[in-house]
Amino acid sequence: MKKIAPSILSGDILNLSEEIKLLEEAGVDFLHIDIMDGIFVPNITAGWNLVEAIKARTDIPLDVHLMIDRPERYIEQFVKSGADILTVHFEGTTHLHRVVERIRELEASPGVAINPGTPVDFLSEILDYLDLVLVMSVDPGFSGQEFIYSALFKIEKLHGIIQKRELETQIEVDGGIKVINIAEAANSGADIIVSGSGILGTKNYIETINEMRERI
Ligand code: DX5
Ligand code: ZN
Repeated sequence: MKKIAPSILSGDILNLSEEIKLLEEAGVDFLHIDIMDGIFVPNITAGWNLVEAIKARTDIPLDVHLMIDRPERYIEQFVKSGADILTVHFEGTTHLHRVVERIRELEASPGVAINPGTPVDFLSEILDYLDLVLVMSVDPGFSGQEFIYSALFKIEKLHGIIQKRELETQIEVDGGIKVINIAEAANSGADIIVSGSGILGTKNYIETINEMRERI
């Protein structure tokens, strides 16, 4: 069963509580929260206080995507604030294994994200330690960008490796996904589909999500 994770910050940030209510009604599987630091990516969003506030507001599991430099500095704060899945970028840290182990020790699910220019093969040694790999299908930093189609080949390749090793690792795809291309993303082997503007930029979230579900 494929899962849908709307990227909440693509919504109306002054009405997040309302936005969450609609997503609860639509029965989404995760809320994807994009944390950007203005250094790893050319944009700034919010800190762990937002995660804490959202956690207090909903029971939907939180999928926190850290687009920050040296995420090891803030792992603890994000897990304690309520991140269920905590994903760090391969490109953001020197001590990837240490960060991943720390996330697990704190009892969250560790994920690693790779940028469009980073090959799947770079995950070879860390893969067995992960609950999730996030394949970016846009360059991180902004919502509303065009889907990069080469991400599909990366997902297929990764899917093959995961099956061969008989791992339970989930594949998540993030960036530029809408009703029109969600089937391709799902068919390539992704388990969790993130969508920001593809859901929160539409008039009726529930209808959009239902249509997405029909296509995957
Ligand atoms: C990009 C973020 C994505 C993004 C998704 O840096 O990680 O989660 O907000 O937004 P859309 O679906 O509009 O590309
Ligand atoms: Zn994201």
